[in-house]
Amino acid sequence: MKPFALTAIVAVLFHTPAWSAEAPPLDSIKAVAGGYAKQLKSGLLAQMSKNGPEGGIVACSATAAQLGAETSAQTGWSIKRVSSKARNPLAMPDAYEQEVLNGFEKELARGKEDASRYEVVREGGVRYARFMKAIRIEPLCLTCHGGNEVPSNVVQKLSEKYPHDIARGYQVGDLRGALSVKVKLD
Ligand code: HEC
Repeated sequence: MKPFALTAIVAVLFHTPAWSAEAPPLDSIKAVAGGYAKQLKSGLLAQMSKNGPEGGIVACSATAAQLGAETSAQTGWSIKRVSSKARNPLAMPDAYEQEVLNGFEKELARGKEDASRYEVVREGGVRYARFMKAIRIEPLCLTCHGGNEVPSNVVQKLSEKYPHDIARGYQVGDLRGALSVKVKLD
């Protein structure tokens, strides 16, 4: 085979047109999602130890929004938290996310510690790589997402800022929601 022909075949096999990008490797997605989750949690802990639960309320909202915007600027991906019992209405899941959350709920009920999913989906003729990872309730979260554990001053603050809040009444281990990363491929 002439070198030219080989080059042509390699080019055909590996050429990726600009309109059809490959899905990013799962490891890269996990690294970005992991970094986001870690920074969010350390921001929450720092704010709570400095300014109590009221500082934490700011951290769980402002920090999340800021981190999401920064991560999107760096990667071009959308990254956010979603929940079927959302406190912030912007965190309501889309149809795909709701279906995956239902699946996670079942996996955790069967005793799995963690749940995640990564796949390429087509929506309205456009391909997206979508990654989701379950977020579970830990003791720390009960101050603002628990039942009777939520102190009355926090209940008051939350009701003022989120009049339609339904993100309470959770117990440790419950599925709180998921981290959702969406990458446009086409
Ligand atoms: C100090 C109070 C506070 C604590 C503690 C807290 N959260 Fe939140 N959480 C909030 C607030 C306020 C929001 C709404 C954020 C916004 O405006 O986007 C929120 C939103 C969320 C969301 C996004 C979905 C939604 O309902 O809007 C998730 C997921 C979440 N929290 C998980 C957790 C987890 C997991 C923990 C424990 C590790 C935790 N939170 C601890 C106050 C708190």
